[in-house]
Amino acid sequence: MTQSPSSDLMAPSPEEGDHVLLPWLSRMRAAEPLWQDGYGVWHVFRYADVEQVSVDAARFSSDQSRVNPAVADLARGNLTLTDPPEHRRLRQLVSTAFTPRTVAGLEGRIVEVTEALLADVDGEFDLTEVLTHPMPVTVIAELLGLPAADRGYFAECADRLLGIHADDPNDPELMVRFEAVMGELGDYLREHVRDRRSNPRSDLITDLVTAEVDGERLTDAEAVNFCTLLLSAGHITSTLLLGNAMLCLDEYPDAAAELRADPALIPGAVEEVLRYRSPFAQVVRVTTTEVEIAGISLPPNSFVMPWIVSANRDERVFPDADRFDIRRTPNNHIAFGHGGHFCVGAPLARMEARVALRVLFDRFSELRISPDAALEFYGRGVFGVKSVPVVARRNGHNRNLT
Ligand code: HEM
Repeated sequence: MTQSPSSDLMAPSPEEGDHVLLPWLSRMRAAEPLWQDGYGVWHVFRYADVEQVSVDAARFSSDQSRVNPAVADLARGNLTLTDPPEHRRLRQLVSTAFTPRTVAGLEGRIVEVTEALLADVDGEFDLTEVLTHPMPVTVIAELLGLPAADRGYFAECADRLLGIHADDPNDPELMVRFEAVMGELGDYLREHVRDRRSNPRSDLITDLVTAEVDGERLTDAEAVNFCTLLLSAGHITSTLLLGNAMLCLDEYPDAAAELRADPALIPGAVEEVLRYRSPFAQVVRVTTTEVEIAGISLPPNSFVMPWIVSANRDERVFPDADRFDIRRTPNNHIAFGHGGHFCVGAPLARMEARVALRVLFDRFSELRISPDAALEFYGRGVFGVKSVPVVARRNGHNRNLT
């Protein structure tokens, strides 16, 4: 284990809660827009700087194996850890699976899943358990072609993945723990990958193993890592987004009342939730050469951590940034990242959140977070709560929403 630096040389973890993290990010944006922590990682806080790092793949690489060779096996086939031109090749494989048009075709099924999950609940319940976790898991599992019955297993893996975080990106323990979960999930997915090679079906795993880009097919290892990424990225963040929407509406009950009265405002509200409580807290890059950020020069092979949560609260870009405003225009948040690695699943995540809010407002005449709920935030990497206990009262009617 590496030795921990003193606490003033470490960023607060999202686990400490929004009341600790957000004021710290605000102070850093104002006073120290580029800051090096005790492990040598450079943190980037302002919108313009986060944007600069995100678009420049040549100088800010996503391939962490250049400084941490232990990542190499995990990086194979994993879009988030790959640079162009390999990144472009892999990304083409899913380019059609998640376009707004393809995702529009899934709306009916997302409504159906959401309605079924909410069919029998009323009074006090945990919205994460009932809806915000099972809905996105069911949708991504069905897209990939995985049995819904294995949902509990994905949930367990996701929880274990979210529980792994270390401040030091070079901490060897981090890789050992990460590989243990990914290896297990990989073994499970490998069976499906191999099965689809011999028994093609109409699902995303089949598309991934049969598609050819530049005359080449994915190897088993690449396909497994690709599926692992889609399965984990495809539900953890969506679950957090739906939970974050509840936190926003609980903090701003007038906005909730407006949305209930006029569902046409829901898409704008979802964008504002993404800005105000961005589920993906920060990304990681490695410098390939000497670079300058916020007037400071960084050597090659430096870890850089652009904070999405901070960029989206930057007063230089968003007037009155600490106010949740469902009519905010323009709203150029970067909750889905920016540049070549912009989130593949953004249209799906947006659709899931819009449908969830619509159905929730329709089903419940009252819905708020339990007044005595002790909200527990996840640790590094993401920004959101582990469970959302609510008090709800059902509407007398059930409109058909499809
Ligand atoms: C609210 C929900 C979501 C948020 C906030 C989110 C956020 C992000 C962010 C910030 C990135 C960029 C990472 C980077 O620059 O290193 C990203 C990439 C990615 N996301 Fe999402 N995501 C969400 C939902 C989804 C869903 C539903 C899927 C899959 C169905 C998905 C799949 C991916 C993939 C495959 C990438 C890698 C893209 C690349 O590196 O080219 N995400 N996401």
